[in-house]
Amino acid sequence: MKPEEIAALSDDDKSWSLEELEATMLPGHASTKAGRDVIFSWLARYQEAKASGQNAINGTVGSLLEDSGELAVNPVVSTTLREQADLEMSAYAPLPGLPHFRTMVQELAMGDGLSVIQHHGIHTDAIITPGGTGALYMSARNLLKPGDAILLRELHWGPYNTIAKECGITTATWPLHGEESQVDEEALTSMLSQLMKDQDNVLSWLNDPAHNPTGMSLTSESRARVLEIFAEAATLNPDKGVTLFIDGAYAAYSKEHHGWGDTLSEFAKECIWPGNMLVCFGFSASKSHTLYGQRCGALVMLHPNGAFVDKLVEVMLHTGRGTWSGAARLPQATLHSIHSDVDKYVGWLRERDRLQQMLNKRRKLFNARCEKEGVPLLPSHDGYFAFLPHDTPEPVAQAAASRGLYVVPLKGGIRIGLCSIPTYNAERAAGILADAWRMSA
Ligand SMILES: Cc1ncc(COP(=O)(O)O)c(C=O)c1O
Repeated sequence: MKPEEIAALSDDDKSWSLEELEATMLPGHASTKAGRDVIFSWLARYQEAKASGQNAINGTVGSLLEDSGELAVNPVVSTTLREQADLEMSAYAPLPGLPHFRTMVQELAMGDGLSVIQHHGIHTDAIITPGGTGALYMSARNLLKPGDAILLRELHWGPYNTIAKECGITTATWPLHGEESQVDEEALTSMLSQLMKDQDNVLSWLNDPAHNPTGMSLTSESRARVLEIFAEAATLNPDKGVTLFIDGAYAAYSKEHHGWGDTLSEFAKECIWPGNMLVCFGFSASKSHTLYGQRCGALVMLHPNGAFVDKLVEVMLHTGRGTWSGAARLPQATLHSIHSDVDKYVGWLRERDRLQQMLNKRRKLFNARCEKEGVPLLPSHDGYFAFLPHDTPEPVAQAAASRGLYVVPLKGGIRIGLCSIPTYNAERAAGILADAWRMSA
């Protein structure tokens, strides 16, 4: 057969069926993987509705959009990126990251708390990663054994499961919140002690502040309690390794940008940091610097023993080298240029604050209307999202879509992307959600 005749055949006419190909070509562990994201399929529905002339509202995506529907881009970041020297665009970066970036990113993560933490004998270092996702991956690869369970909150960012699966680990959960929307201390303590019985290492990913998918942020008291509970668990089990990984992907759009830096500095002052407790912070430039596609993040590590922190850098470096090789140099250089130049820094901050205020306005309008309509949203304080718990989210999302609001049905409820809903539609979106929710009640 000629190549053009083969090309004209439908897939079924070719001698191998898809099932046969999968069975022959893909080992079992690969053929069970599925990648299509529910978020993108609901975004596609919104786009179809919009194209067909519907007055549709987009509450599907996880990127911050201006009220015009355009992607919000911090102009100081894009200008500074374009100003970089050819070398920064073309050269490899050192595998752990540009040295000045590694120093600077620790401050971006911890704020003024960093120097206090260091002053009290806690050693810190950071390694560049392709986005915050890379930092999560490095921790899962190295701080647990294959087959161990990672501790997550019950409601969490979907890709946590994908990363866990890729690393050959399972998941265990503790409730998103206890009384007064804060920490369920009993559940956390008991999950930690259970995990310690089952495995030698415990690793927990805690997405705070501005949790995805709810927008919930812990108070400073709750942060301190979480840290104390991890430290107590470590102290009671000196033969186990305990890591608390704070995923700060949305910290730039929360009320306390460096809340964890403050909490950790208070904790460091008490000089009771157990040697078998590591704290990691996942930094992401995707949202804070509107650099989603540049894949720039960092894993920041804090521990009382400097030699151990050096060893951790080696270990993580090995994982990076064996997975994605090195991370991009251009965004590292860009961030460093911005944060080492007062004018650029002030310009970046002003725009970041404007975007945060836009989110706050949308959230206020949305929350107020939901409250008025009696819609039982989960507490939503900061960041990109709000969440309506529901046992059968799909029909609620369908009902909302038929009225013009596109949101994402997830396991356990509906994620509303305040980040993509124009401010002028925030109240209307809440009204539509209320109607859809009442219909299904
Ligand atoms: C909860 C959470 N953590 C981490 C990330 C990591 O993002 P990135 O890899 O783009 O830095 C995201 C991105 O959406 C997120 O929602």
